[in-house]
Amino acid sequence: MRVVSGIQPTGNLHLGNYLGAIRNWARMQDELPDGSECLFFLADLHAISMPHDPAQLRSATLEMAAALVACGIDPDRSILFNQAQVPQHAELQWLLNGTARIGWLNRMTQFKDKSGKNREGASAALFTYPVLQAADVLVHQATHVPVGEDQKQHLELARDIAAKFNHDFASEEEPVFTLPEPISPPDAARIMSLRDGSKKMSKSDPSDMSRINLSDDPDEVMKKVKKAKTDPEPLPSERDGLEGRPEALNLVTIYAALTDSSVDAVLADHGGEGFGAFKPALGEVLVETLRPISARFTDLLQDREAIDAILARGAAKARERAVPTLEAAYSALGFVRGDGTR
Ligand code: TRP
Repeated sequence: MRVVSGIQPTGNLHLGNYLGAIRNWARMQDELPDGSECLFFLADLHAISMPHDPAQLRSATLEMAAALVACGIDPDRSILFNQAQVPQHAELQWLLNGTARIGWLNRMTQFKDKSGKNREGASAALFTYPVLQAADVLVHQATHVPVGEDQKQHLELARDIAAKFNHDFASEEEPVFTLPEPISPPDAARIMSLRDGSKKMSKSDPSDMSRINLSDDPDEVMKKVKKAKTDPEPLPSERDGLEGRPEALNLVTIYAALTDSSVDAVLADHGGEGFGAFKPALGEVLVETLRPISARFTDLLQDREAIDAILARGAAKARERAVPTLEAAYSALGFVRGDGTR
């Protein structure tokens, strides 16, 4: 298996990112069959599809790299890098632009959402964003791509691009690209805002009380949990009793995810408890989970050289893996590369 996935360096990782994706990446490293490889990268090239601040992009990239390592992505076992240091991603995107169809891109819901009413003013990069994402996985011959629900459509597109390219420019016996399968880890928890159980926990929520940041200290974590919005009812002992109580469901979901349990099991244990008792218990578990992560994160952030070295080493390995596929794509398309091929 070759597992490839990316995350945008948005700065400030929070509990939603951790329980939704990053923890599963870290676990995947342990669970793969021998001979498998994981490549995890910061999708910094994707960041310029929206208005951005260069200084902020740089610090967010470094910060996110530190956060991933702190969360357990082991740069000795996985290949951790940022796209901008692996030019094969951008190069392959250009080649794939010849295969991707405007009609396919027009159907991408993320473009519609992000461009909003001002489609004419959106960057061309926002429109071709999914082609870069296809290049990200195809250039590494990914067999499996862990993605959340919102990215399934982009992965489908990557498969369509790969299939058309193989069909148009290669043979069935010798395809240039592997068609990647999406994987949605079964325990990818959907973590909601602590202030509004109907909204996803998000770094762009104006209220910092809505999220637990991986950099929050224990006092902040406790305070946020205790102030989390809830209702006056005690916890039910069965899931049905959480119907129409999104904030209560969210806290139970977080507890279940942190203790590797299930909502049903947590309710079986804590049913009948009021939030006056449940919140401190949840706070305790959260603090214990985050303590080693934020300690490692804070240490690493102060060691710029260590982060640079990790990314440089990851990028070197990623380039090595990407080059043969990129060359095969150039060659299939009929480009003269001056090295005697074709
Ligand atoms: N677009 C993804 C997101 O916003 C990030 C991403 C970029 C990605 N390239 C990828 C995810 C390749 C998986 C595979 O979450």
